[in-house]
Amino acid sequence: MVVVTGGASGIGRALAERFAAEGSAVATFDLPGHRGPGELHLGLDVTDAGALGAAVGRVEAELGPIGVYCSNAGVAAGDGLGDDADWERSFALHTMAHVQAARLVLPAMAERGAGHFVITASAAGLLMLIRSAPYTVTKHASVALAEWLAVEYGDRGVGVHCLAPQGVRTPMVAGGDERSRRELEAAGELLEPDEVAGAVLEALRSGELLVTPHPEVRRYEAAKVADRDAWLAGMRRLRSRL
Ligand SMILES: NC(=O)c1ccc[n+]([C@@H]2O[C@H](COP(=O)([O-])OP(=O)(O)OC[C@H]3O[C@@H](n4cnc5c(N)ncnc54)[C@H](O)[C@@H]3O)[C@@H](O)[C@H]2O)c1
Repeated sequence: MVVVTGGASGIGRALAERFAAEGSAVATFDLPGHRGPGELHLGLDVTDAGALGAAVGRVEAELGPIGVYCSNAGVAAGDGLGDDADWERSFALHTMAHVQAARLVLPAMAERGAGHFVITASAAGLLMLIRSAPYTVTKHASVALAEWLAVEYGDRGVGVHCLAPQGVRTPMVAGGDERSRRELEAAGELLEPDEVAGAVLEALRSGELLVTPHPEVRRYEAAKVADRDAWLAGMRRLRSRL
């Protein structure tokens, strides 16, 4: 069975619908009042470790062992350097919610020698979202955690995957400010959530860690690694255009 957090909207909803269409039993977790698809929907804040533990226990009791866990819930919080609340919320969701989920599900997957753990990061976790330092930095932590988990669990039959899209046409983008939308549009095409979900399912089959539905992200990352100062100069030019 498959769990998707942030499953009521956008990329999470598309993931839940794709897995269900392929015949999996699906449970979605999202904030109370945000209803997702699937056999079971639980309303909770995934940054509440106790509530997350109870939710994981309940889906396992009702739907059986978790074969795929998509830790996808995220927020676009904080303009510029943001305030402390933006950093706390971003770190809680983009790092600690993934850590708590890994503690809850990965030991059992490793014991069974089967399973997939998917972290939704962002291209901002490889590159940058100029508009927001809290988003950029905590999404880098999501990528680093996925890489660390891939080393820790990769030889034990568990697939770890890290989704790193640029712009995707979801309520997060539609609800964002004009500057963020311009930044995403400057980086490349906006994809539909279902295209992104399809790329995740493909990575589950291929075993690849990094899922980049926008192919240009790989080029941008290679350019960054090859010459960081030239890349930063390019980002400053983009910043002044925005
Ligand atoms: N849309 C994009 O362009 C884009 C690009 C790169 C990465 N992402 C990432 O994709 C993921 C999904 O984003 P989306 O665009 O589908 O956004 P979205 O706003 O449509 O969906 C996010 C969902 O997460 C839920 N959520 C937020 N905080 C939660 C919490 N504490 N507990 C439980 N649920 C919570 C929201 O209620 C919402 O249903 C996020 O991690 C986001 O950072 C999005």
